[in-house]
Amino acid sequence: MGGKVKAIAGEITVARGPWSETLLVCRKCSKRLGGGFGPDGEAPLAGALKGILRERRLRRTVRVIEVGCLDICPKKGVVVVRGRAPSEMLIVPAGMQDEAVAARLLASDLTPPATAGS
Ligand code: FES
Repeated sequence: MGGKVKAIAGEITVARGPWSETLLVCRKCSKRLGGGFGPDGEAPLAGALKGILRERRLRRTVRVIEVGCLDICPKKGVVVVRGRAPSEMLIVPAGMQDEAVAARLLASDLTPPATAGS
C-alpha cells in the first residue's frame, strides 16, 4: 500500500496490499486474558503472532489485524479468523506454544516476499 486512497463517490475502489493472508484477532479476548502467549507467556496473541511472523520473515506476507468481539467469547482463549478460511472461527487457548500456534494458523505455502538480489 502506500499513500492515502481516496473514496470515489458512487464507486467501490480497491486498495491492494502486499499480503497473502490476514489474521483477524479478537482484541477483546486478548484484553480479557491479559497476555498468555509468546516465549514468556505474557504477550497478547497479536503481539506473539507478529513476533512469530518476524522470525519467519513473513511480516509483509501475513497481516495481523485486531478486531472487535466476534461473538464467540471463549473462556481462556482468543478467537482468530484466517482470511483464507473465513468460515472457521479458531479458538487459540492461552498458553499455547508459538510453534503450535504457527503450525495451525500459518499455511505452509506462505513464503517471505522476494527481495532484490535474491
Ligand atoms: S470477546 Fe472475543 S469473541 Fe467475544
